[in-house]
Amino acid sequence: MRTVFWDYDNHTVKMIDQRLLPFELVIAEFDDYQEVARAIREMVVRGAPAIGATAAFGLALAARQSQATDRLALLRDLETAAEALKAARPTAVNLAWAVARQLRLAASEELETAGDVREALLQAAQKIADDDVKLNRRMGYYGAELIADGDTILHHCNTGALATVDWGTALGVIFAAHEQGKKIHVLVDETRPRLQGALLTTWELQQRGIPFDLIADNAAGHFMRTGQVNIVLVGSDRTAANGDVANKVGTYKLAVVAKENGVPFYPVVPTSTIDLDLANGDLIPIEERSPDEVLRAIDRPIAPPGITARNPAFDVTPHRYVTGIVTEAGIVYPPFEKNLRAAVEKAQKET
Ligand code: MRU
Repeated sequence: MRTVFWDYDNHTVKMIDQRLLPFELVIAEFDDYQEVARAIREMVVRGAPAIGATAAFGLALAARQSQATDRLALLRDLETAAEALKAARPTAVNLAWAVARQLRLAASEELETAGDVREALLQAAQKIADDDVKLNRRMGYYGAELIADGDTILHHCNTGALATVDWGTALGVIFAAHEQGKKIHVLVDETRPRLQGALLTTWELQQRGIPFDLIADNAAGHFMRTGQVNIVLVGSDRTAANGDVANKVGTYKLAVVAKENGVPFYPVVPTSTIDLDLANGDLIPIEERSPDEVLRAIDRPIAPPGITARNPAFDVTPHRYVTGIVTEAGIVYPPFEKNLRAAVEKAQKET
């Protein structure tokens, strides 16, 4: 089952409610783009590629909701919807990328009527979703070259089928290596505060029969220093033109410790996550989420009432800690400035 999809009978957007996993598998259904924006913000759906596809379907939904009969009035309604969807989460560039792509299409002179725009937006959202699955498979194939039989892989957050439309980015590489028959073991960072590793990544690995151990985030350094990790694989929410990588908070610490211990560190990043407009990672907006996510764990307070907390959801890993970046156009090595641009151009030609 895909993480997010369009229901062609009901004309709605459906998604797995990831807040309930792994204990309940519930499909949430949306017929209002504002509710889709809220679902992104509240992390019913999460993971950069998944929220990109969700926003694309959200705009197709907004086009259906709009009462506009002429094309220009519809475009105005779409601009409003685009703002609401884009504002839902700021770091993952796939969201802004998908929204901009849909708005460009909607404004295209070739679409003559409001009906043409509605139809085109749905088809384009479906293509974004279908392409995501294809390019994840391709990244899996390239990335699996990095994994040898017997390797132990350290993984952060959730980057699997749930973080994408299907298959996954960093976890997709792990799935591909397993499919190739390599005997691998995964150390799964629990990923406080929202525990995507403990709740979601373990669930995905368990379903595929891939051996793993869940570890406290704080244990990662121990496993690397004692030679128990062969490679670190992570995803990215936005990668700047110079190869600085924004990803789930805690990634930076992993990368620094990996370098210190000679462990290769590879983000797995579809080119839709590469933001060539941003020269470096300092320019990437970092989402700050509710302190409650830090002050509570699974519905129970874990700190004295009334204290304050800070909760940046992402951090930036400077490119000097990055061994290489796996994309659907191949594995990119330094100098990232030049080679990431070439990878983006290659990927654009291929789609
Ligand atoms: O806050 P989340 O759960 O949306 O964060 C997800 C990540 O940080 C992933 O590593 C990232 O989106 C890329 S993986 C497809």
